[in-house]
Amino acid sequence: MERPLLVALPALLFTLIAVLFALTRCASPESNPETRVTVIPKPTLLKRGEGWFEVTEKTAILHEPGNPAVERIARDLADRLGRASGLSLNIAPLSREPNDRSIILALNAGARALGDEGYTLSVRPGGVRLEAAKPAGLFRGVQTVRQLLPPEIEKKSRTAGIDWTIPCVSIEDKPRFAWRGLLLDCGRHFMSTEYVKRTIDLLAYHKMNRLHWHLTEDQGWRIEIKKYPALTRKGAWRRYDDGTVYGGFYTQEEIAEVVAYARDRYVTIVPEIELPGHSVAALASYPEISCTGGPFEVETQWGVHKDVYCAGKEETFDFLENVLTEVIALFDSPFIHIGGDECPKDRWKACNLCQARIEKEALDDEHELQSWFIRRIEAFLNSKGRRLIGWDEILEGGLAPGATVQSWRGMDGAIAAARAGHDAIVSPTSHAYFDYSIGAIDLRKVYSFEPIPPGLTPEEERHILGGECNMWTERAPQETVNGKVFPRILAMCEVLWSDRDGRDYAEFHGRVQDHYKRLDYLGVDYGPAARPVVIVPSFDKETRSFEIVLESGEQDVAMRYTLDGTRPSSDSLLYARRLNVAQRLNVAQRLNVRESTEIRARAFRDGIPYGEEARRRVMMHRAVGATVSLTAAYSAKYTGGGDQALVDGLTGSVDFGDGFWQAYLHDDLEATIDLGAPRTIETITARFLQNSNSWIFLPTEVEYSLSSDGLNYETLATLSHDVAQKNPDPLIKEFPASCDKTEVRYVRVRARSVKVCPQWHPGAGQKAWLFVDEIIVE
Ligand code: ACM
Ligand code: ZN
Repeated sequence: MERPLLVALPALLFTLIAVLFALTRCASPESNPETRVTVIPKPTLLKRGEGWFEVTEKTAILHEPGNPAVERIARDLADRLGRASGLSLNIAPLSREPNDRSIILALNAGARALGDEGYTLSVRPGGVRLEAAKPAGLFRGVQTVRQLLPPEIEKKSRTAGIDWTIPCVSIEDKPRFAWRGLLLDCGRHFMSTEYVKRTIDLLAYHKMNRLHWHLTEDQGWRIEIKKYPALTRKGAWRRYDDGTVYGGFYTQEEIAEVVAYARDRYVTIVPEIELPGHSVAALASYPEISCTGGPFEVETQWGVHKDVYCAGKEETFDFLENVLTEVIALFDSPFIHIGGDECPKDRWKACNLCQARIEKEALDDEHELQSWFIRRIEAFLNSKGRRLIGWDEILEGGLAPGATVQSWRGMDGAIAAARAGHDAIVSPTSHAYFDYSIGAIDLRKVYSFEPIPPGLTPEEERHILGGECNMWTERAPQETVNGKVFPRILAMCEVLWSDRDGRDYAEFHGRVQDHYKRLDYLGVDYGPAARPVVIVPSFDKETRSFEIVLESGEQDVAMRYTLDGTRPSSDSLLYARRLNVAQRLNVAQRLNVRESTEIRARAFRDGIPYGEEARRRVMMHRAVGATVSLTAAYSAKYTGGGDQALVDGLTGSVDFGDGFWQAYLHDDLEATIDLGAPRTIETITARFLQNSNSWIFLPTEVEYSLSSDGLNYETLATLSHDVAQKNPDPLIKEFPASCDKTEVRYVRVRARSVKVCPQWHPGAGQKAWLFVDEIIVE
């Protein structure tokens, strides 16, 4: 029917204005940061459409009827939107009527090809439709919706003046891997139930689906076991020499609460009960199941400890089966993690009962005894309908028949498992150890991780179920954990969820920048994505000066430095404004070439210090730039910078992997320095590192000899030391000798290696390291 002109005109005008308005808003969706799609992990297929869907007070959330799980997901989305926007959204079951302006959560058997966690999402100006075969898929899809909404959606309180819009998209999404996890080590440092729940929220937000909960350690037993109350009465607490007590544990009630909380968020908790090693806290509580009978204290030292469960006693298996029975009752995971890593065999070698077991079971050695131990535990778990997973050491001495392997010492464990027809998950130290420093594993490195090792057949590849990032906490109490996990877990979740093709670090890095605001609102105290400032010094032989370059792995940071030993502030000298600016700073003029200088540098973002300060000392001593000849070859892994490392003026820290240490495996060091011409020298000082946990020992003896012709050497001094090898702390030891202003051209340093790890050491009899960083001649 024709409308009278008078009514039609205003309507026409209104439509025109609305279209013009929409056109200006739609002009360039990609260039407008408000509308950039920055979902992490990146969806499998994503098409950006024109315009937005706007959430208003008229928006209803309509859910699949008759499914409480879907109803809960709908309610959670409505609550979240309500909290952040103040809008009170209607929630109702989905009916057959067309529902415009609604957010629809529907189960659709047709989406089955996308798996249990896959979903499709269609956002049009007229409505949002999320479909999945299973509630888990709808839950994952809602996380995408959250990330499409403005970041303020994550705030706990209302923000005014926000357009609650969702950009129009068409998404089809499913995970690449079924197992996408985080290991949380609550053994070394206890974390509160509240904190564990918050971690589960954050995992779910990033579409991760496994929390690998490391609950027992040498340093603490964290799970209440009703049949063995001493495990938490004694085993949950470690006592330091100064009288302080550290510990904590979860009651079964708390565990059940956390498991249910995770289940509601489609995260499975895989408990880890360590055996046969890493069990000192259990042995301190029940010494009768050790080989020696104890007594033991809950460990206060990190590392690998020799006292482990006795494999010869039946009581050990009674104990473990009783413990596992209670564990199984608490957790719904089909997999129970039993550890299996780092189990020294010393006690078993010396134990009559363990030796009798080896004989009775016709085993070859203690490695086969460990394998027998794991098989026995596997049979028990299988009898209860659960599957065993263990660290890659469970391959040694033969793999239990149905075991799944977690590869951590590289990817070899996963390759061996897959080739033997076993399932595996991957978390190699190279990319997945989030306790390692950001300098060792930065965001880019994690993003470069490929979970499928090369060389597998398609059939073998199917055995790689997925991967985990491992957050060990020897040096990370609860309040520091998020600073290590974030933002690196953003890279890991994308590696495990998103397709392998089209991975582009620069593009991902851009999305991460947008996520920082979301993480802020979520209350995540994230750390840096890379070392924000790195000092790279090099010695220039021609100008006899050090050239210093400052580098940053972060964007939008200003680097400031000092050369006078003071802490850099926002007023200190500015080095470079941005990433990758190859601005070079030659400090030769500022340096007194006979003096050593310390460079201190710090990154600033918006004038606020960002990340750790970097410090590096350069030493301008007599031998810097001299020629060195070495008798033995240094390790390709630890070169310290190469042939000139011992006279490059650069010294290392207690971190043996900092790049400044040169290492010799089993060999003695013999270095001859040619100063180029006869020079008057006063002292010689060689520097060595000890880190007995990492099999690095000081030399037993250091000998200096001098020569003026390079043929005849005279011994100047032979030095020893009184540092205990058993000292567990990394330390640097200098060996100084005075030369009485002798004129010489050649200086020879011999350092005698301990060659093999001492008898008391977990690596007894195996090759030991000698680490040296500098030979200082003054
Ligand atoms: C491990 O890092 N010991 C599994
Ligand atoms: Zn024994």
